[in-house]
Amino acid sequence: MSRNISIIGSGHVGLVVAACLARQGNQVTVVDTDEEKVRRVNARVCPIYEPGLQEILSQVNIQATSDYSLISNSEIVFTCVPTPSNTDGSISLGYIKDAIEQVSLTLRDKSDYYVVVVKSTVAPGTTEEVVIPILESSGKKAGIDFGVCMTPEFLREGKGVFDFMNPSRIVIGEHDRRSGDILCSLYRDFTAPVLRVNLKTAEMIKYASNAFLATKVSFINEIGNICKRLGIDTYEVVKGMAYDERIGNKFLNAGIGFGGSCLRKDLAALIAKARQIDYEPSILREVFNLNERQAVKMIDLLKRHISVKDSTVGLLGLSFKPEADNVNGSLAVTVVNALLKEGARLKAYDPQAMANLDGLFPRVECVAEEEVLGCDAILILTEWEEFEHLDYRGKIVIDGRRILKAKEAEIYEGVCW
Ligand code: UGA
Repeated sequence: MSRNISIIGSGHVGLVVAACLARQGNQVTVVDTDEEKVRRVNARVCPIYEPGLQEILSQVNIQATSDYSLISNSEIVFTCVPTPSNTDGSISLGYIKDAIEQVSLTLRDKSDYYVVVVKSTVAPGTTEEVVIPILESSGKKAGIDFGVCMTPEFLREGKGVFDFMNPSRIVIGEHDRRSGDILCSLYRDFTAPVLRVNLKTAEMIKYASNAFLATKVSFINEIGNICKRLGIDTYEVVKGMAYDERIGNKFLNAGIGFGGSCLRKDLAALIAKARQIDYEPSILREVFNLNERQAVKMIDLLKRHISVKDSTVGLLGLSFKPEADNVNGSLAVTVVNALLKEGARLKAYDPQAMANLDGLFPRVECVAEEEVLGCDAILILTEWEEFEHLDYRGKIVIDGRRILKAKEAEIYEGVCW
């Protein structure tokens, strides 16, 4: 059955969800306050880099708008707006409050039942304590006049379409049975296990999942830091661990740590939430702190081989991970700032991110790969596949992401192997 769906927010999650739901035959309207994004979506030009998304957008019939009144026929409204960090790590609810207020005003006079679904990552308790009261301020009652669900999204940037179409699980946090039933019916074609829980459990599942992924990375980086001192290859250690099925080999790539806009932000938010309720989350705190220290280890390694001041250092990779063009939260920013402080000149190459640097690398000259290879030393910050095909012979390379080919360099240092 085709549903009339609205998606508020056309970031990575919103756009992928919108495109995939439209491809499944639903009628989808995307609302975003960014007029340029709206224009591009309507022109079927994908405004973000996400493999496979452009193709879907050009096949489906999505309407994008900045006018909330166009959602008035919606049966299901997803909010996919960002929840950025406050300075204390807690999340800022400004965008979600605005979006929910608009939804509430627009659907105030709707006589049919509709379901509002929170997909933005929000701290446990937010849907109940913040979202529902705003919706009910219209005079309508949750569970009677409209439904409420919270369904976290587990998409990875760069693999969003695949992840949406092949979910490991579908988590449905429901205010009441009827709300959950309606949302479940939308996912009827998926074969993934569906877990129906209350709203705050769904919110927590998202945070606990990302915090656990972050913990795996910091854990293996800690083992790596010890291995480095002992002259042991951490990647061989992981191979040896991975035969134990309880451990496995996923998300145990040692390096400069986790970047991007999700793991770090969500970990900080969970820490802030725990503190708010008077609990000091010592493991999570250390997972976060180790990650903050990890990337700058590259500078200490570099200093063993060159005098950084006035040297030209070449950077391979600026995006927070391969197959993504996003530099927000990238550990390249941390490394660049540390190198500038040391007085280095910087040249960089990234296959996707150079058109999209968001002003984060003001004193970095973007050049071709070959020019980076000509610098006094090379730092590898993102494991783009093409970096496996460069000629590193005769170079000084500090590798933050394990590019095997770089081992042929004259001087090669892995950050934690
Ligand atoms: C992450 C989660 O993996 C998704 O499940 C989640 O839905 C998403 O956050 C979100 O909350 O929106 P994403 O931020 O796209 O997805 O990127 P990841 O692939 O998880 O990588 C995050 C960072 O960890 C990258 O900087 C990556 O280089 C680093 N990483 C990852 C490692 O250093 N080692 C690893 O073994 C794996």
